[in-house]
Amino acid sequence: MAFKIGLLGLGTVGTGTAEILLNPEGRHPLIQDITIEQIGVKSLEKKRSIELPTNIFTTDLEAIVTNPDIDIVVELIGGLEPARSLILSAIEHGKHVVTANKAVMARFGPEIYEAANNAKVYVLLEAAVGGGIPIVEPLKQSLGANRFENIIGIVNGTTNYILTQMTQNGVDFEEVLKEAQALGYAEADPTADVGGLDAADKIAILASLAFGGKVKREDVYCEGITKITSSDISYAEKLGFVIKLLAIAHKVPDTEKLQLRVHPTFVPKSHPLANINGVNNAILVEGQPLGQVMFYGPGAGSGPTASAVVADIMNIVGVLHSNKKAENLDPLLSCSPQNYCVVTPIEDVYTRFYARFLCADVPGVIGHLGMAFGDHSVSLESVVQIGFQEDLAEIVVVTHKVREGNFRSAIEEIRSLNAIKNIPSIIRVL
Ligand code: HSE
Repeated sequence: MAFKIGLLGLGTVGTGTAEILLNPEGRHPLIQDITIEQIGVKSLEKKRSIELPTNIFTTDLEAIVTNPDIDIVVELIGGLEPARSLILSAIEHGKHVVTANKAVMARFGPEIYEAANNAKVYVLLEAAVGGGIPIVEPLKQSLGANRFENIIGIVNGTTNYILTQMTQNGVDFEEVLKEAQALGYAEADPTADVGGLDAADKIAILASLAFGGKVKREDVYCEGITKITSSDISYAEKLGFVIKLLAIAHKVPDTEKLQLRVHPTFVPKSHPLANINGVNNAILVEGQPLGQVMFYGPGAGSGPTASAVVADIMNIVGVLHSNKKAENLDPLLSCSPQNYCVVTPIEDVYTRFYARFLCADVPGVIGHLGMAFGDHSVSLESVVQIGFQEDLAEIVVVTHKVREGNFRSAIEEIRSLNAIKNIPSIIRVL
């Protein structure tokens, strides 16, 4: 049986998707059953790197999602609107949907899944997280027998590239960002990547899948990498860590409480995520009785992301090959998140901290710091004073696991100490 797809967008990922579908040789035979019926683009004049019949192009995207001949709409335009409305319209018109749109799915996933379940169509999004790395379907299917405890990911290639360059070459953030933009590894407007927002979208999606509940995107605590300095990178190295932007979803065992956060993190050099470098992504999944598995590979790019898009199209074609209309949706392929997850406020999360203080080099400063932490039940693991910045002493503290609210109260007290001139960095420790 032949399946017709409508492609919304022919950018990097759309072109990669078309390239796979037009060259089925040596690939799974199901690909031969898939044809591109229409492609929605912004401009019909734009020169394309791929040869396609001109009559399949249109600028009328609504005409694609309502076209009765199309079985599967593949949304690759990104952004919130018109992507969200087009997805909902496609569902309303009985189309299955494949999307790489993490921003839409992290914010409107519950609304979209509800509409899809009512219309008995599938919405698949493997390409939205981790590019070519299979992580969405493994959470839904291959690892489905587990009770998940931790999903910890490096899920943004841009920031991982920047932090890797800062670590390996001792270069400052701004300089590496400029270089990454010149090489095409960072967007002209890098806010979503360097601000951690892209990673927050991705962990919201993974948490919803792993923990079976709806996640409010605004419940994901989010800090980016813009304040990381080469001093912090160098202290991390001396203390036995590397700095990574981690996206963390942690379910406290035997409770309903979920922690959801994205922030730069000191990762011990011996940890499997410490060695994920450059634009690569990796996601460590921990569950019972599985233990740990790590998924690693290219988290973006035309070919890898298109590989995930086409796999989703094939999954739909595979379950529907004898009947295009699903009587009942396959529960392993569809999503029905139930209640909203109870997310722990960041103040109540227990974690370790690294903090760097610049202070007057006078007697008693370390004593005052220790007292302030002690007053708020923050136990210190190590205190070092190695360097000077101009005439100020640089004191670095690593805490034991403490409640974040207590740590913040201690920091407020420390800010009011006369000898403390600045607290340039506070970074959580894994
Ligand atoms: N901008 C993303 C990244 C790629 O840097 O990883 C697509 O999700």
